[in-house]
Amino acid sequence: MIDPGTDHPTGGARLEDGDEVGRVIVSEADLQARIAELGATITADYRGRPPLLVGVLKGAFMFMSDLSQAIRLPCEVDFMAVSSYGSATRTSGVVRIVKDLDLDLLDRHVLVVEDIVDSGLTLSYLQRYLLARQPASLEVCALLVKEGQQRTALDLRYVGFTIPADFVIGYGLDVAERYRNLPAIHVYDGPRG
Ligand code: IMP
Ligand code: MG
Repeated sequence: MIDPGTDHPTGGARLEDGDEVGRVIVSEADLQARIAELGATITADYRGRPPLLVGVLKGAFMFMSDLSQAIRLPCEVDFMAVSSYGSATRTSGVVRIVKDLDLDLLDRHVLVVEDIVDSGLTLSYLQRYLLARQPASLEVCALLVKEGQQRTALDLRYVGFTIPADFVIGYGLDVAERYRNLPAIHVYDGPRG
């Protein structure tokens, strides 16, 4: 479990099992403040045409939960799970759909909720996949975008934070399935196995 009281001198944190994670790059307070702003903007933009929020598992689970509560519209919620082929920390852009949507996208205002855009290849694949289902509109809300890493042109309607190209964990983001439950975004500088 996480012991938020044990702050590391470098600005990182020590977890109760002795693991150390790197410094915080987006704090819990900054995440929540920005999500409130995004929620207000989305509420204004989608008034009269409530969106269908499509969360991309697993990374977006926390963001989806907080963002959906900040949107004051009767939205619907659905999830997809994808896994990218490639090494542990680099995507190849070839995406496998592990869990498909339950809801029909036809004529719906779809808002994809993503945790992080790195190369952009995963999102670019997803956009093509979802557009083929003929939504009335398709936009993206990405919590994090890594600066200067995109290998494809993307139209990101809503972005939480632009961050440096470090590998990050927490608030849904993992390394080898760990650290998703941290309430802030940390840099990860340990082994990536
Ligand atoms: P992309 O296809 O290169 O944009 O990578 C997108 C996916 O890779 C994200 O949805 C994440 O699941 C994962 N990813 C990319 N960068 C990070 C990171 O810094 N930490 C954790 N996961 C990441
Ligand atoms: Mg993801």
